[in-house]
Amino acid sequence: GWGVAIVTAVASRLALHRHHLEETLAPFRLDSEQLKSVQAQMREAMVRGLRGEDSSLPMLPTFVCATPDGTERGDFLALDLGGTNFRVLWVKVGSRSEGGVKITNQVFSIPESVTQGTGQQLFDHIVDCIVDFQKEHGLSGQTLPLGFTFSFPCKQVGLDQGILLNWTKGFKASDCEGQDVVSLLRAAIRRRQGVELNVVAIVNDTVGTMMSCGYEDPHCEVGLIVGTGTNACYMEELCNVSAVPGDKGRMCINMEWGAFGDDSLLQELCTPFDLSVDKASINPGKQRFEKLISGMYLGEIVRHILLHLTRLGVLFRGQVFQCLQTKDIFKTKFLSEIESSDLQRRQVRAILEKLGLPVSCDDALMVREVCQAVSQRAAKLCGAGVAAVVEKIRENRGLEELSVAVGVDGTLYKLHPHFSDQVKDTVRHLAPRCSVRFLQSEDGSGKGAALVTAVACRLAGSTRA
Ligand code: GLC
Repeated sequence: GWGVAIVTAVASRLALHRHHLEETLAPFRLDSEQLKSVQAQMREAMVRGLRGEDSSLPMLPTFVCATPDGTERGDFLALDLGGTNFRVLWVKVGSRSEGGVKITNQVFSIPESVTQGTGQQLFDHIVDCIVDFQKEHGLSGQTLPLGFTFSFPCKQVGLDQGILLNWTKGFKASDCEGQDVVSLLRAAIRRRQGVELNVVAIVNDTVGTMMSCGYEDPHCEVGLIVGTGTNACYMEELCNVSAVPGDKGRMCINMEWGAFGDDSLLQELCTPFDLSVDKASINPGKQRFEKLISGMYLGEIVRHILLHLTRLGVLFRGQVFQCLQTKDIFKTKFLSEIESSDLQRRQVRAILEKLGLPVSCDDALMVREVCQAVSQRAAKLCGAGVAAVVEKIRENRGLEELSVAVGVDGTLYKLHPHFSDQVKDTVRHLAPRCSVRFLQSEDGSGKGAALVTAVACRLAGSTRA
């Protein structure tokens, strides 16, 4: 009768939806061969970058050659620019019996009109924030050594000199690319009379993270960030770094792996959704690896997939809601929440409804599958990158087995319920001769910048404690 016909029709519609969903998500499910190929290509790009040959990886020297040895002491200022917020920190580095490292910090928001305004506005704003911070904490008039965590690609010729190669993530302030960032900061300090600062070091956040974990564990020789952006650094043999003279010892190299694949190496992995995300970004064609992995972009990939599935009639009864067409509506936090394993369907629905998506139970489940596919691909690609790095270190040292630690920071890595486990599984699979410990850094950018500064001061014998 009619009843049977309706049931059959509903069942076959569901089967068709399932089929569309599977077909859409299939390219996100990377197999072992694909990951091995990413690892191998990353490895090649590393070697070419180190030699100064054509490569999407710039492999930037950082002039950080020593990890902390625990004898560093003193008071330092640190700045942290490059994530979602700008921070100023006062870092007291004492002996362990004095409680180790103590941090006081303050968060300042930087309006988009400043991140995308002129360089002068940006650096004037930074100095204003520092002055406020000093007043607030009774530090005015003291010239503490300052470490500047500046999380963008910089070509360094020394610890306190870094030429910004190009902005990444959401930044686009004019007249900064090609300039020495420390000079820009010093010029802003001069414009604001009566302020004195002693800028000792410019530090990438990956390096800060490695250093802050290195303070606890001397085997920490890799730094990894998976937050707004993604990147890694590691200790390379100086003899392999053609940009820096000398061949004894090691130097930390900022890989800028977010740019991996900008020479079209990653093309076969990119889906139409990735292409849309790239096209609508402020830096099309750039940071292609980062756009597959980091928090700034995962929500956008999900949004584009949901749009596609809605247009196919698979989701939301084919109704394209306004919010689905709003860029950046899905934050990283959203993926983390949706994927929490103890979540009931009802809760997934509640999260989606808060965004303005009135969903059915089936919708909620499918959205969750989309999120899982996107974040799993990100974690696996990140793992393939880490595997390339630790294998390089192992071979550099001619070891059968390497034991190494990776210091990690970033909201996606820390807050997502499964991301870190998937990274670890992938590394175990792709680098079986390396035993890799992952250490979550506590405020790598702040503490790390202070420690880089402290080490520099210790080596220069000039700490003003
Ligand atoms: C971007 C920046 C890089 C930074 C990373 C993580 O990739 O270019 O310098 O380390 O984001 O913040």
